[in-house]
Amino acid sequence: MRRRTRERRGVHRRGSSERTFYIVVVVVTCGIISSLFHHATAVANPTSSSEAEPEPVESKKNATKRRGARNSCDLFDLRRQQGRSRGAKLRKVVSGFESIDRHAEELGSLAQRQWLPAHCPINFTLVTQATPERLWMLRWICQRWEGPIVLAVYTDRSTVVEKETSCGDRVDYRIVPATKEVFARHNAYPVNRLRNLAISRVKTSHFLMSDVDLWPDVFLLRRLQALAEAEPDVFRDPWRAIVVPAFARDVKTECSSSTAASDSQSTYRMAECHREAEQMPSNFVELKDCIISKQCHIFDRFNMDGHGTTDYRSWLRQENGVRDIPCFLSNRYEPYVVLAHTPDRPKFEEQFTGYGKNKIQNLVHLRYVGWKFAVLARSFLTHFPHHKSAARIQWENKATPPSQQQGADAATDVDAQHRSHMDKLYRNFLDALIAVYGSPGARDDVVRICNA
Ligand SMILES: *[C@@H]1O[C@H](CO)[C@@H](O)[C@H](O)[C@H]1NC(C)=O
Ligand SMILES: *[C@@H]1O[C@H](CO)[C@@H](O)[C@H](O)[C@H]1NC(C)=O
Repeated sequence: MRRRTRERRGVHRRGSSERTFYIVVVVVTCGIISSLFHHATAVANPTSSSEAEPEPVESKKNATKRRGARNSCDLFDLRRQQGRSRGAKLRKVVSGFESIDRHAEELGSLAQRQWLPAHCPINFTLVTQATPERLWMLRWICQRWEGPIVLAVYTDRSTVVEKETSCGDRVDYRIVPATKEVFARHNAYPVNRLRNLAISRVKTSHFLMSDVDLWPDVFLLRRLQALAEAEPDVFRDPWRAIVVPAFARDVKTECSSSTAASDSQSTYRMAECHREAEQMPSNFVELKDCIISKQCHIFDRFNMDGHGTTDYRSWLRQENGVRDIPCFLSNRYEPYVVLAHTPDRPKFEEQFTGYGKNKIQNLVHLRYVGWKFAVLARSFLTHFPHHKSAARIQWENKATPPSQQQGADAATDVDAQHRSHMDKLYRNFLDALIAVYGSPGARDDVVRICNA
């Protein structure tokens, strides 16, 4: 059992960084083996979980309250119940990355890891983030996703965020204001902070992590719910990510014009936007038509590594259920996924801001910890067409007076700097993952890179 537990949690010490890792293992193992043991038992036998809980000394009233909470499916209650085990030593990891440190600590300190009691329903929330000028998209998203939505909105302090009335009260808005100066710096867009904040508000067992310009097809939620009904095991394993394939409607639209520098400086022509919105495929048949007419493509065709592992060819033939992904074609695979709202899910690393590496870092974290991936049949997300082409913007820049062009060059420099900063951060993040979880190539519980 001990061996199994270690395997599942990836506490291995093979490979080149053996020595460093050994130290981590020793420190960690003392504190967590017993709680991990409980988890493994809970996984094997979901009904035995309550035995693992230490008996607290408390008043009768408190005890009654606790019993009530024990039958609760409220995720906040569940989390409280599964709170820290008594006497468990916290696993102190200082990797330089909050998301890694917290996750390592969480793994070691939960009293038990049984996540969702068998009597609790499986359901899904759409989680997304945006700046105010894109909120018009909500109207369309709400038509397509008839369930709860949590939306983190990053806004300039002076902007009043207008709520989309057609959504009823299904949208939980989390407003994150910034000063005008900070807001104007698009590289400071706290994308991962927004994601973490939104996820923390999810009240269902699962959520789909999306972006506001990726729109679900109209059957996605129902398909997930039907699958949860027919094959609950697909979702009962909290360490499993369900991939929702992504496509892009790739046409020229005058819906928005944008200086490539920042979406928040875009202006929208709403009549155009609505016309374009009507063209977004809303089901599988429409998607196929859109592909045949070459207006839709896989997302994103300029970054095959990002989504190629989804294997779109197989997906087009996949009629139902989920299809396991045996290996990744690239270590840059970053699909959109449905995740269990489990406490031991690694959070997004908030040091990643603005453009670049902000999603891949979390996907790779999941993989290194031991998450498995499977692709959902038939349902998909479609990316709303981009603004004017980059060529067009360049052309327009040429037409601007030299003084402004200089400004544009300065902005490009800042962007280049930001990118190289994010790339470096990402490399450090990968090193930290390997130091804490071991080299994925040396572990058999981590999804491999194909042919590696
Ligand atoms: C009962 O619970 C409250 C908080 O809910 C706590 O402050 C109090 O100390 C508890 N009482 C006992 C006797 O455990
Ligand atoms: C899931 O949520 C929807 C509302 O979004 C609700 O109608 C449905 O009953 C829920 N399903 C379960 C199994 O709780």
